[in-house]
Amino acid sequence: MESLSRFIPLPRNVYRYLCLLTALANGLGNVFLVLFYRPLFEWLGIPLPQDLCSFTFVAGFSFTIGILALLLFLNPEKNVNLLIVGIVGKGLYALATYYFFLFHELHWFYLLFGVWDAAYVVIFLLFLIQLVSPDLGELNRGDINVGLDRERINRALFLVFSLTGTGLSGMESIRKGLERKGYAVDVKFIEPLESIFRFPMSFRDFARIVVRAIFRQPARICPLNIPGNHPYDLIVVESQTWLVGMSAPVEAVFQDPANRLIFNNRDVGVLNVARGGWRRSQAMLVRWVQACGGNVVGARAFTHIGWEPSRLCSLWFYLIYRQAGLPKWLGGFVQERYGLSDDALRQLEQFGEDLAQRRRVKWLRSTVV
Ligand SMILES: Cc1cc2nc3c(=O)[nH]c(=O)nc-3n(C[C@H](O)[C@H](O)[C@H](O)COP(=O)(O)O)c2cc1C
Repeated sequence: MESLSRFIPLPRNVYRYLCLLTALANGLGNVFLVLFYRPLFEWLGIPLPQDLCSFTFVAGFSFTIGILALLLFLNPEKNVNLLIVGIVGKGLYALATYYFFLFHELHWFYLLFGVWDAAYVVIFLLFLIQLVSPDLGELNRGDINVGLDRERINRALFLVFSLTGTGLSGMESIRKGLERKGYAVDVKFIEPLESIFRFPMSFRDFARIVVRAIFRQPARICPLNIPGNHPYDLIVVESQTWLVGMSAPVEAVFQDPANRLIFNNRDVGVLNVARGGWRRSQAMLVRWVQACGGNVVGARAFTHIGWEPSRLCSLWFYLIYRQAGLPKWLGGFVQERYGLSDDALRQLEQFGEDLAQRRRVKWLRSTVV
């Protein structure tokens, strides 16, 4: 399913029971391992641990993560910070397991635990976002929030940075929807000052973007020169995902205090595009807009056409060949089209229409009166 904007996040209880599952697996599993590792390993043909102390220490650490997961199951809201500990703990364990499997001939049996923990890094991250951002669940359901009660002149400003054109195609669809409902749209492109943020790019530039994204090093962009008293009653801003976060040039807009007034006291629509993971970058973008005083009226997120791992490889090949569907010898494994599906673009046109028709008066006020 390419379109995730209508995707209803997993209910809270599903995440809770997933926590219970890993609580039982980590808790009981480690007790079982410490007590019965000898017959189990002999039966599966796994070499016995060379360092029994370290084996037991790791089992103890893993058991503790089980207790952490149990606390999360019992009261997620009260223990939300434990999710961060769980993400770090399970993430480190998964990375170490994978490393020792690749370079130190660790038995495949241990890799199963690594895969399990890597899956839980994702599950805990999604649960964390849901717990700290219940409003995002509503936006992703398709809700359009009420707009600010201020004069509307039906003019929208788009803030766009699109390295490979995906976000731009999405914004063009939103524009069609807005124009159909009487809006005029002006587009301001976010222009990075550093040449690495241009497509096509060399492998070296790609690597630099990746490293910078990991360390969240800010980018430098040309001044937007949009005054705080601009006439637009709607701003639409988009970001792509880079290394599980917003892209640096889009974040640079918000990092510059001179730009913050652009969003202040304005209705804002938000679009996120990604190969597959948009939740964190969407949360970042929405929170930035809100921190600048913007009223987020709608948010949509879309992923690339395809299925994993084809979608991931198709992205890499697109960055290398600058054309979809290559290399040909990989046949149907490489997606013939790069970016968003027609269905996603249609939904974004509808999003544009919905933004244009957003209600103005808060329900609360109108029902109370
Ligand atoms: C350096 C780099 C890092 C990326 N990291 C991620 C990622 O962590 N998760 C993801 O789902 N997509 C990732 N992507 C894919 C982009 O989010 C995706 O291609 C998006 O559609 C690009 O939008 P644009 O063409 O508007 O720039 C990455 C792309 C690049 C170039």
